[in-house]
Amino acid sequence: MEVSILTLCYLVGSVTFIIGLKMLSNPASARNGNLLAAAGMGIAIIGTIFLYEEDGKKLGNYPWIFGGILIGGIIGTLSAKKVKMTAMPEMVSMFNGMGGACAALISAVEFDHLFQTHRGAESAWLFDFVAGGHYLTIIAGAIIGSVSFAGSMIAWGKLSGKIKDMSFRGQHIVNLLVLLLVLATAAFTYQSNVQSANIPFYITVGLALVYGILFVMPIGGADMPVVISLLNSFTGVAAACGGFLYNNKVMLTGGILVGAAGTLLTILMCKAMNRSLKNVLIGSFGGSSAAGAAGVKKDQGSYKEITLSDTAVVMSYANKVLIVPGYGLAVAQAQHACHELEKLLESKGVEVKYAIHPVAGRMPGHMNVLLAEADVSYDKLMEMEQANDEFPTTDVVLILGANDVVNPAAKTDPSSPIYGMPILDVELAKNVIVNKRSMKPGYAGIENDLFFQPKTSMLFGDAKKVLQDLIGEIKNL
Ligand code: TAP
Repeated sequence: MEVSILTLCYLVGSVTFIIGLKMLSNPASARNGNLLAAAGMGIAIIGTIFLYEEDGKKLGNYPWIFGGILIGGIIGTLSAKKVKMTAMPEMVSMFNGMGGACAALISAVEFDHLFQTHRGAESAWLFDFVAGGHYLTIIAGAIIGSVSFAGSMIAWGKLSGKIKDMSFRGQHIVNLLVLLLVLATAAFTYQSNVQSANIPFYITVGLALVYGILFVMPIGGADMPVVISLLNSFTGVAAACGGFLYNNKVMLTGGILVGAAGTLLTILMCKAMNRSLKNVLIGSFGGSSAAGAAGVKKDQGSYKEITLSDTAVVMSYANKVLIVPGYGLAVAQAQHACHELEKLLESKGVEVKYAIHPVAGRMPGHMNVLLAEADVSYDKLMEMEQANDEFPTTDVVLILGANDVVNPAAKTDPSSPIYGMPILDVELAKNVIVNKRSMKPGYAGIENDLFFQPKTSMLFGDAKKVLQDLIGEIKNL
C-alpha cells in the first residue's frame, strides 16, 4: 500500500512540476506556478523520506536529512529575500552550482558503494561486476555535475566581480584536450582493476572540475546569463542520471525537464541576440575582448539634449507614448517611478505602453519581472514584433536605460558585433527621448548612432531621479 502512495506522491510531484513550468511562461501566473511546483516537489520529498523502503527498511538518518533541509532552507530563504533583481543571475548561478555538486556527490557515493562491495574480489575488472549502463549513469552524473558545479562557481565569481575574465592563446585547444582526458580516464576507470578503480574515478572527477573552470573562464562576464542557462541544463541532465540510478521517477522527470528547459532557454537567448552558442562560448563578447570595441570612437557628429520641462510638455501633449525599458532602469530601480509616470500621463489622456525587447536587461524576462514588481498591467507590455508595428504611429518613445536593444547598427552595420540582432525600431516614431547617465556604451561596448539622429534628444541623469523630477514637472504644467 505504502509503495503505491509513494508512487502517487511522485506522480503529483511530476505533474505539478510540468504545470508549474507551463505557468512560469506568463508573469501573471508565474508566482503561483513556482509555488505549485515547489509544493509538488515537497510532497515527493516528504513521501521519499517517510515511505521509501529498501529490503523492508526505511531511510532513517532523520537528523541528518532534516538538519540539511533546515540549514539549506534558511540559507535559501534569506538569500532569495535579500537578492537584488540585477544580482539574480549570480544567485541562480550559485544555486545551480549546488545542484550540480549534489548530482556529482550522488554519483560519487554510488561509485563508492560499488567499489566497497566489490574491492575484495581478486584480480578482476570493474566491468566484470558492474553493467555498462549502470556505470555510464554513474560516471555521466559525476562528470556533468562536476562541470556544472565548477563552471557555475566561476560564473558566480565573475558576475559578482570577484573573478576576472581570463583567457590565453590556444585555450580552446587546451579545453578540448582536458575534455578528451576526462572521457579517457572515465573509460579507463571501467577497465580498471576492481581493487583500485577508485583512483581513476576520482581523477576523472578532478579533471571534470578543471574542465568546468577552464570552460567558463574565457567567456565574457556579461555573457554569463547564457552560460548559466547552459550549465543549468547540465545540472538537469546530471540530476536525471541520479533519477536513473535510484529508479526515482520524480528525480528523472525533474532532471529531464530542467535539462530541456535550460537548453531551450539557451537557444532562445542566443536567437534573440542573433549569436550562435559557439560564438557565445568562444567569442568572449562583452568580456575582455569587447573592450577593444568600446574604445573605438566613430565620428558621429553631435547629439542634442532636452530639458526636463520640454520633456514634460512633449509627453503630456502626445497621443501615444511607448516606453522602452532597459538594464539601466533595473540598475536605478526606477520601475515604481516609471509606473507613476505612466498613470499620470494616462490621467491626461495619453495612451502609454511598454516595448519589451527579449534580451533587454541581463536575464530572460528581466523587464517583465521588474515592471510586474511595480504593478504595471501585463496587457501594457508589448513584445518586440508587436511594438515594431506600433512605432510608426507613436508620438514619443521614452528610452529608459536601454542601449543595445535600440541600436540601429544591428540593421545597418555588418561590422558591428550586434549586426543581425533583432532590435526595437524606435527611430520610426516621431520623437525619441533617451534617458541614460552619459554617452557611455551598454553591454556590447559599442556606440549607438540613434543618439546622434535628428529625432533623438538625450535626457541625462539617473533614471529614478529623472523620472521623479519629470513627474513633478508634468504635475506643475
Ligand atoms: P545595455 O545595452 O546594457 O544598456 C544599458 C544602458 O543603461 C547603459 O548604456 C547605461 O548608460 C544605462 N544606465 C546604467 N545605469 C543607469 C541608471 N542608473 N540610470 C539611467 N541609465 C542607466 O542594456 P539593454 O539595452 O537593456 O540591452 C541588454 C544587453 O544585454 C544586450 O546587449 C543583450 O544582448 C545583453 N544580454 C542580455 C541578456 C538577457 S537574457 N536579458 C543576457 C545576456 C546578455 P550610462 O552608463 O550612460 O548610464
